Amino acid sequence: MTDLAWRIATEDDIPVLHALMDAAISGPLAAFLTPEQVQASRLIMGVDSQLIADRTYFLIEIDDQAAGCGGWSYRITSYGGDHTPGREPAPLNPGVDAARVRAMYTHPDFVRRGVGKLVLSLCEAAAREAGFDRVELVATLGGEPLYRACGYDDIERIVDARGGAPVPLIRMGKTIRPASA
Ligand SMILES: CC(C)(COP(=O)(O)OP(=O)(O)OC[C@H]1O[C@@H](n2cnc3c(N)ncnc32)[C@H](O)[C@@H]1OP(=O)(O)O)[C@@H](O)C(=O)NCCC(=O)NCCS
Repeated sequence: MTDLAWRIATEDDIPVLHALMDAAISGPLAAFLTPEQVQASRLIMGVDSQLIADRTYFLIEIDDQAAGCGGWSYRITSYGGDHTPGREPAPLNPGVDAARVRAMYTHPDFVRRGVGKLVLSLCEAAAREAGFDRVELVATLGGEPLYRACGYDDIERIVDARGGAPVPLIRMGKTIRPASA
């Protein structure tokens, strides 16, 4: 059984996060896309330093190595990195809007060991704690099996062509507190 440790990421982790995301895009994500779509994905994915500043971003470690990362947000932006156009930092309204799950990546050396599942449970618990009763995310084709396994349903299929090649994405969501609670 793998020991997964987690902590809130800080600005000091940013170089490690860049390397982790780069490895995840070249590794597990590349299995689902053409090389052109992988290149295009780099423009619409990556480190969002707002999540780190907000202290809503988690780093997962296995044997003191960076194994994965991901976070949640109370801001409108639904996906993308610092370099992606269309940031919308205005806050969402808990109980009305869905919180976002953002920027999930597992290093290729640590896939299928429960890292992604742990990040999702941390995000859902934190969003619930902040008063949200629903979470939504924009999934890559590489992320879809994880989210489906964790109870997320499709909202809509979209295509983002801002990086050059058209990259298929799926908006997905999950209720995290029964309406009657
Ligand atoms: C998506 C990603 C974060 C999943 O991370 P992970 O740590 O391997 O996920 P987990 O080990 O927690 O998987 C939990 C369950 O999800 C499902 N799952 C995850 N990845 C899967 C895959 N590639 N194929 C089929 N099912 C998968 C399985 O049911 C798995 O349970 P199991 O291993 O016991 O069968 C990782 O593949 C990744 O970094 N991909 C590239 C970056 C990316 O596209 N991120 C998503 C952005 S929206």
